Amino acid sequence: TYDFALKPHPTIPKPEGPLLVCVLDGYGENPIQDEYNAIFSSKTPTTDALKEVPGRWRTIKAHGKAVGLPSDDDMGNSEVGHNALGAGQLIDQGASLVDNALRTGSMFSGEGWQYITPSFANNTLHFIGLLSDGGVHSRTDQLFGCLRGAAARGAKRIRLHILTDGRDVPDGSSLKFIEELEGVLKELGEQGCDAKIASGGGRMGVTMDRYEADWNIVKKGWEAHVLGEAPHYFKDALTAVKTLRKEDSDKPVSDQWLDSFVIVGEDNNPVGTVQDGDAVVIFNFRADRVIEMSKALEYAEFDKFDRKRWPQTRFVGMMQYDGDLKLPARYLVPPPAISGTSGEFLAKNGLRTFVCSETQKFGHVTFFWNGNRSGYFDEELETYVEIPSDTVPFNEAPDMKAREICEAGKEALRSGKYDQVRINFANPDMVGHTGDLEATRHCCELVDQCVKELLEVVKEVKGRYLVTSDHGNADDMAQRDKKTKQAIVQEGKVVPLTSHTLAPVPLAIGGELPEGLQLRDDFPEGGLANVASTIFNLMGYEAPSHMEPSLIKQ
Ligand code: 3PG
Ligand code: CO
Repeated sequence: TYDFALKPHPTIPKPEGPLLVCVLDGYGENPIQDEYNAIFSSKTPTTDALKEVPGRWRTIKAHGKAVGLPSDDDMGNSEVGHNALGAGQLIDQGASLVDNALRTGSMFSGEGWQYITPSFANNTLHFIGLLSDGGVHSRTDQLFGCLRGAAARGAKRIRLHILTDGRDVPDGSSLKFIEELEGVLKELGEQGCDAKIASGGGRMGVTMDRYEADWNIVKKGWEAHVLGEAPHYFKDALTAVKTLRKEDSDKPVSDQWLDSFVIVGEDNNPVGTVQDGDAVVIFNFRADRVIEMSKALEYAEFDKFDRKRWPQTRFVGMMQYDGDLKLPARYLVPPPAISGTSGEFLAKNGLRTFVCSETQKFGHVTFFWNGNRSGYFDEELETYVEIPSDTVPFNEAPDMKAREICEAGKEALRSGKYDQVRINFANPDMVGHTGDLEATRHCCELVDQCVKELLEVVKEVKGRYLVTSDHGNADDMAQRDKKTKQAIVQEGKVVPLTSHTLAPVPLAIGGELPEGLQLRDDFPEGGLANVASTIFNLMGYEAPSHMEPSLIKQ
């Protein structure tokens, strides 16, 4: 329990206007500044100017242990980033918790595992999830640990339903992960466990939708994984992926966007549909992109698409994905316990918040920000506005909804109704993930213009601002030689980097601030978890004592 009453800050008065908290998703401050840094190589006068204000701009850590990930080789991501920003605390994240559960064996003695075990002897055990070592939503080594653990504990028949990545890892790497998986399945086979890949597809078009942007994506996954229906049937997954990538055609398809496929046996029947009595494990630890499939598997009442058949399964998630909905009811590893978040403090103190983003990032500034809770703390005090995202590849419409978000933010700032206006611009991340350098440059320019307009309104209403990001992405669009950092060129083309980067992110503050107020320059390890306390200070309050320290010089 916390003492929720916020104390006025001894030297920083409350601002006259609201505080704007602006997250530029995927906008890192990369030490490599060349043409493949889409921020550096585009015209971003507003964010450039922020850097020049002495004492009011710095970088903060956004990856690895600073955001609760297992190691400093782990790039940051929006889940852990927004958790840290909103909670102001260092939280051991899903990836670390699953690692621990596998290392100590608690995975296999927990309630979730006990729940699926009765299906091991006479039914099939299914695994559904993202097949890569990206460490953002899942990791292959964790999947392999679960597979070996299941076979050792008597699972006789295992079927895998795999989503290919190419977004948190290089495009084309899906083939390597499938080969590794086939190796493990062969090993299980030698121990008498019949284990096979049964279906799959690319993560952006199959199963892994988020925030209900497009339920058709989940429907495709349901049909392939559960019903054994897809536009393409193959005898093995490697052939499926090689064929669907269409590498030799004019229109090659990347791992992210592969169509759904089903693996069939010699008899041409699907090798692994989901049946009554089977167990199903979703092996992603990250929530956003598996909540919808979890609902389809778990809910008796379901109207998002016609399931045709709803098998009665023993279904568990790697974690519980939504703490408010208690979804799924059963899970293998207890999720990070996040409480005492900044949103709860604001609400308990009667402070009013306006939150806005477009669908693709809406849950980031609400659900993740609030510690993986899908509701409001106090509906009277919080206004959440979701602007529907387009459902096309984002390099084809790189403006996304930046203009609309900017307008909504300006209106909220001017309305006089709010103490905090929190918005997220999705573009640098979502367009960055496509690997399209030109489109990413374009959207960085647009977002920079939006920031300019917002800061003008902050000035007009005598407010303050804090501009930051959750992790890098647009700041590096090329895969690079590890030693020389030169962009890798293959067949005359630079190999695009679709994933996030390890770069720190900017933190800029301004507006009607007491003269002399400065950011700490004696705290290089400061990271995203230090932002919440900084926000409380900028709103005129002392930060709650359980939060990581503020970055304002006291
Ligand atoms: C995704 O889910 O799109 C990527 O894996 C990670 O992107 P995000 O962490 O920026 O959402
Ligand atoms: Co991203």
